[in-house]
Amino acid sequence: MKTADILERIGELKRRKNAVILAHNYQIPEVQDAADFVGDSLGLSRKAAGLDADLIVFCGVHFMAETAAVLAPGKTVLLPEAEAGCPMADMINGRELRAWKERYPGLKVVCYVNTSAEVKAESDICCTSSNAVNVVNSLGVDEALFVPDKNLAAWVARETGKRLIAWDGYCYVHHRFTPRDIRDARALHPGAEVWVHPECPLDVIDLADKVLSTGKMVLEARATSCREVIIGTEKGILYRLGKENPAVKFYPARETALCAHMKMTTLAKVLRALETGTSRIEVPKDIGDRARGSIQAMLEIS
Ligand code: 13P
Ligand code: SF4
Repeated sequence: MKTADILERIGELKRRKNAVILAHNYQIPEVQDAADFVGDSLGLSRKAAGLDADLIVFCGVHFMAETAAVLAPGKTVLLPEAEAGCPMADMINGRELRAWKERYPGLKVVCYVNTSAEVKAESDICCTSSNAVNVVNSLGVDEALFVPDKNLAAWVARETGKRLIAWDGYCYVHHRFTPRDIRDARALHPGAEVWVHPECPLDVIDLADKVLSTGKMVLEARATSCREVIIGTEKGILYRLGKENPAVKFYPARETALCAHMKMTTLAKVLRALETGTSRIEVPKDIGDRARGSIQAMLEIS
């Protein structure tokens, strides 16, 4: 089927089924263009919670669709590609977190949004890369547990001055950035600013001008007076940055910074989801209720 025909059919089914398409900033260009809302994890969580739709087609990875299902229990949430998971989210499960917590009685648990609903259910409060510093400051404690991203934890600990005991998890896309990537990119584009995601290791963050979630990169790009920016995050966001800011040149800090799972969703799979109702993401009620508590605690402070 031609792209124009797929888009027309998607439009028809969306109207008929009262559906909304949400897409993360790392999705492929065609999917971003077909979406009703494109955003970061925090923005899309908020959107899912407030939507007046019967059906949400979530173009992203499994934990994002699960978060939408937790926040919108009356709605049907579909993930167009069932295999699109987040390897970092899979680095800890509920059983492992329960056992780990027992070693640190009394400490609160902050979970990154890149976790399963089961892990969120075992946590006190959730955070995204947009609000992690505010979330940790809001706890009013000097020490807390943080799962699963050790890189994000290290940066947040430094920003807040708190002691964060981190799970040994990481995002394989961001963990691969090196100081050399940043130095090489600066040598190629000497006038450019460097913006990196806080999932990068601290020695990479130390060489950046700004540390920003994908949502904050989108906002910063609209406000910046720079003409050239080197971007240290998954390369998919360069499409949106370039499209919205034609006067600014964006360069990837690393050409190979691609999340295979984020690229699994295609327009054809979005259409299939709308046609067949696959793959429906459901969260058992007891886990959903407890996971919602940690997500709502986050939404209240950010
Ligand atoms: P944000 O879009 O919240 O910055 O998260 C990045 C990410 O890696 C999501 O998988
Ligand atoms: Fe997970 Fe990293 Fe891919 Fe985001 S970019 S979905 S954190 S593996």
